[in-house]
Amino acid sequence: MTDALKILLVASECVPFAKTGGLGDVAGTLPRFLQKLGHNVVIVMPLYSLIHQAKYKIQPVIQEMNVSLGHEQFTCGVRKTTLPESVPVYFIDYDPFFKRPHIYHNDDYSDFPDNPVRFAFLSKAALQLCHELNFSPDIVHANDWHTAILPAFLKRLCKDDHLFENTASVLTIHNIAYQGRYNYYYYHYTGLPAEDFTPDKFECMHAVNFLKGGIFFADMVNTVSKGYAEETLTPVGSHGLDHALKKRGKDYVGILNGVDYSEWNPATDPLIPANYSVSDMTGKQNCKRALQKQFGLQPLKKIPVIGMVSRLVEQKGFYVLSECMEAMLNNMDAQFVLLGAGDNKLEYLYDSLYHRYPGKAGIYIGYSNELAHLIEAGSDFFLMPSVSEPCGLNQNYSMKYGTLPVVRAIGGLNDTVENYNQKTGEGTGFKFWELSGKAIYNTVAWALDTYTNRKPHFKKLIKNAMKQHFSWENSAGEYIQLYKKAIMNKRNRSTKEKYL
Ligand code: ADP
Ligand code: GLC
Repeated sequence: MTDALKILLVASECVPFAKTGGLGDVAGTLPRFLQKLGHNVVIVMPLYSLIHQAKYKIQPVIQEMNVSLGHEQFTCGVRKTTLPESVPVYFIDYDPFFKRPHIYHNDDYSDFPDNPVRFAFLSKAALQLCHELNFSPDIVHANDWHTAILPAFLKRLCKDDHLFENTASVLTIHNIAYQGRYNYYYYHYTGLPAEDFTPDKFECMHAVNFLKGGIFFADMVNTVSKGYAEETLTPVGSHGLDHALKKRGKDYVGILNGVDYSEWNPATDPLIPANYSVSDMTGKQNCKRALQKQFGLQPLKKIPVIGMVSRLVEQKGFYVLSECMEAMLNNMDAQFVLLGAGDNKLEYLYDSLYHRYPGKAGIYIGYSNELAHLIEAGSDFFLMPSVSEPCGLNQNYSMKYGTLPVVRAIGGLNDTVENYNQKTGEGTGFKFWELSGKAIYNTVAWALDTYTNRKPHFKKLIKNAMKQHFSWENSAGEYIQLYKKAIMNKRNRSTKEKYL
C-alpha cells in the first residue's frame, strides 16, 4: 500500500447532481477533501433522469457494460463528469431502474418496490466498473442500506478476483432508521450464498436486512457523530441493530460530518441577496427582508423569524411539533418559515398553516436549494426538533449564517450546539431534551425572550455561532484513519483465514 489510498465511494445520491438530504452532501463533499489530502477517490452513483446532464457536462464513457446480479444479466451504459479537486464521478446509466421522477419513491411518497434490486444493481455495477477502468481500490466505501451489500459482494463474490485482492470495505451509517428490510426473496436474488442468510448476518425475522449484513461484513463501520454512535448501541436508538453493532466493538466509530464552506458561507454565498460576515452584519437584514417578501410574511424588521428546512418526515419531529405549532403561531410574536417535502400527511398539515396564518406562517412544500440558502441567511432562529438526528447539517449551516439553532439535544445536534448559558451569555444555540410539544414551545419562547430582552447576549450568541468551524479537513483525516484500520482488519482476517 502506498500512502495515497485508492477509494471507491458508492452512494445513492450525491451533490450537486441529485440529493434528498445530508447523504448527498456528504457523498459529494468528503471525496473532494480526501482528494485534497492526496488520495484518489472515484464516486459511483446512478444516472437518475432528474440529473441535468448538460449543466454538469456529463459525457458517455462506456456504451455497454455487462453486469451480472444473481441469475440476471444487465447491460448498462456509464457516463462521467468531474467534480472540483478533479474527483471523477461515474454514473450508471440504466433507464429501467433510474429513469423515474424521484430517487426513491413515487409521487405519493411510497417507496419503489424494486429499490432493493435497483441498489444491489448499482453496487454490483460499481464493482464491474472497477474492472472496466482497471481500478483496484484499497477501499470500497458504502453508504447507508442502499449500498451496504458491497462488503458482502467483496467478501463472497470477489474472493478470487485479483482486482479486489487487497480491497477493504467501510460502511457509513447516515441513518439507522432506514435499514432496507425486504422479503427474503431479494436476498437470494442478489446471488449471495444461502449460508449467509442467518440472523447474525443478513436475516432479520425471516426478512433480509441489508444494513445488518453490511454491519457484519464491512471491515470498519462508522456513523456520522459520536453521540449517535453511542445512541445506536441501545435497542431504541438503533431500531433493533444494537446487537449487531455491539459485536463490532472498536470497529464501530463516530465521525462528525463537516460543512462545505465553499457553498455554505454568508460572506460568499451567491444564492442570497446580500453577503455578510461576523464583522459586518448589515447584509443579514436585507436577507431577512427578502425572505419575508418571498414567503408572503409581513415585512416587519423587528419581529423574529424562525426557519426550518427539512425532509417532512416523522424523524424530524414534525408530528411532535404539530402539538404546539398552532399555540406558537397564536401566542408568540414571531414568524415561521418552513421549506420541506416528504410524507403527504405532513405536507398537507403544514401547508394548511399558510392559509390559516397569513403573513405569519410562510410555507413552501417542495425542494429548493436557493430557498434553503435564503432561509439560513434571513432567519433569526433555526428550529430542529428531531426525534433522532445522526448528525444534522442544517444546524451547522445555521450557525455560520448567524441564525441560532433551537434543537433537541440528541445525536449530532447535541454534539454540535452549545446550549445558551443565561448567566454568562455563552453558547451557540438553545437546546431541549424532552420530546414533547411543551418542550419545543418553552425552548422557542426562551429563544424569543433572549432576542427581545437580553440583546447583548443574543448578539454574543450570534458571534459565537458564526465562529464555529466544522471542518471537513479534520473529518476527512478521520476517514483516512478509518480506512487504514479497515485495511488492517482485512489483512488480519485474511491471515487468520489462511491459517485456519
Ligand atoms: P437529513 O439528511 O436527515 O435530511 P441533514 O440535516 O443532514 O438531514 O441534511 C439535510 C440537507 O438537505 C441539508 O443540506 C438541507 O438544506 C437539505 N434539504 C432538506 N430538505 C430540503 C428542501 N425541501 N429543499 C432544499 N434543501 C433541503
Ligand atoms: C442522514 C441523517 C443526517 C445526517 C446525514 C448525513 O440523512 O439523517 O442527520 O446529517 O445523513 O450524514
